Amino acid sequence: MRIDIVTTLPEMITPALETSILKRASERGIVEFRVVNLRDYTHDRHRTTDDAPYAGGGGMVMKIEPITAALEDLLGSSVDEAQADTEDVVPRCKPRVVLTDPRGQQWTQELAREWAQEAHIILLCGHYEGVDDRVRQHLVTDEVSIGDYVLTGGELPALVITDSLTRLQAGALGDSEAPNKDTFSGNLLEYPHFTRPREFRGWRVPDILLSGNHALIEKWRRWNQLRTTRERRPDLFAKLSLTAKDYALMEAEEPQAPVE
Ligand code: ADE
Repeated sequence: MRIDIVTTLPEMITPALETSILKRASERGIVEFRVVNLRDYTHDRHRTTDDAPYAGGGGMVMKIEPITAALEDLLGSSVDEAQADTEDVVPRCKPRVVLTDPRGQQWTQELAREWAQEAHIILLCGHYEGVDDRVRQHLVTDEVSIGDYVLTGGELPALVITDSLTRLQAGALGDSEAPNKDTFSGNLLEYPHFTRPREFRGWRVPDILLSGNHALIEKWRRWNQLRTTRERRPDLFAKLSLTAKDYALMEAEEPQAPVE
């Protein structure tokens, strides 16, 4: 998968791509990252990417020309040609051009799983009060928000999207099963994890995890997932299709290690 990030702050993006799992994935050729400095597509001495809004109002607005030039470069042809048919359907062979914007559709694990199948995604980091709306109207195919809060710019959202897409690529994680066990894979939150030491400052690991009884451990984990999801995320809990066995398990007390 190729992910291009168009930004005025490449210095914020590059170090994250050169760290840990993202770095390893690109070294292995699982993903290809390109960081594009929007200022490279300006023609004035100050490398200006923003301007005052028409009709006044607070803040600055990102200019359309550098964005168009950067996208044209990435798409390898004119935006008009490459995106000609986006009015009706986003053509599957063309990259998604994604604007990070708090007004966009909410980024979720479900969307990450869907987009992880794409060959090429371009992320455009929004800034200031916003971008010239013609960018939204004519150039981008999608707008994404990473949550109901406002950040200083789209770089962190672009990294969030990049990270969640990369870890879903085959071979990106050590344990290839891991993405399926994730919190949110089945709208269930994760169960608690513990590692050594068995006791620390008097805080003990639940005995059941050391019981060696795998069926019982599975039961304990499921009980925890169900209870935690119901308590903390009733919105996710409402989407679950649970079995009678699940309901019975959830209503019961927490499974305990057998007494020796
Ligand atoms: N830009 C500023 N805040 C944002 C958010 N929450 N999601 C996406 N882009 C943003």
